[in-house]
Amino acid sequence: MTRPSRIAVLASGRGSNLQCLLDAISAGQLDAGIVGVFSDRPAAAALEKVPGELRWARSPRDYADRDAFDLALGDAVAASQPDWIVCAGYMRILGGGFVSRFQGQLINIHPSLLPRYKGLHTHARALEAGEFEHGASVHFVVPELDAGNVIAQARVPVLAGDTPETLAARVLEVEHPLLLATTRLLVAGRVAECGAQVHFDGQPLLGPLLLDSAGQLVRAEAVSTPR
Ligand code: GAR
Repeated sequence: MTRPSRIAVLASGRGSNLQCLLDAISAGQLDAGIVGVFSDRPAAAALEKVPGELRWARSPRDYADRDAFDLALGDAVAASQPDWIVCAGYMRILGGGFVSRFQGQLINIHPSLLPRYKGLHTHARALEAGEFEHGASVHFVVPELDAGNVIAQARVPVLAGDTPETLAARVLEVEHPLLLATTRLLVAGRVAECGAQVHFDGQPLLGPLLLDSAGQLVRAEAVSTPR
């Protein structure tokens, strides 16, 4: 029997994606344990979701520079001996040193259909551009911001009258099943980064997996797009 996967979570804010993973673990839907929650914001609500001994939070202001902060963060993460590191609303850019230290183990959930709308204010920018469709992506992290291989995406419609807030809420609803389904594939060993490519069930993934209405991730060609 294999042991449950050890997951470290990096979070800066509310922690609803972390809560989704915790709920799935409690419900026996994710064969994993959260081994630490790491934050650049000591007041982040996400930290409250785990017992004190699993929390690490430091202010970057207390470090000389980005490298020094990333080194301390990386040492703390490494000490938790994670199999996977999930950035779930971690709003600080991770430097190349951190990223290469955990290459292939480090994923991020981002609120847009990458490669569209990297960076901040994704919902407002999608609305300004007149998009009909928006969503979220889970990707492997590389030093360039939001540029790593995308593993999976979930799409939502943009509706007439949407504001950045209503659109963000609709995207967040699909972020939770998207992150859970992707993490389940990772811990099951079904998805891995192999060199420059993502492999799914041993085959190169040519485009992101898509979340279907049943909360399952399927290859894009298996999802029919309404016209
Ligand atoms: C989520 O919408 C996540 O996609 C986004 O922050 C929110 C965190 O929510 N992440 C980014 O914007 C990263 N660039 P949560 O704290 O409730 O999980």
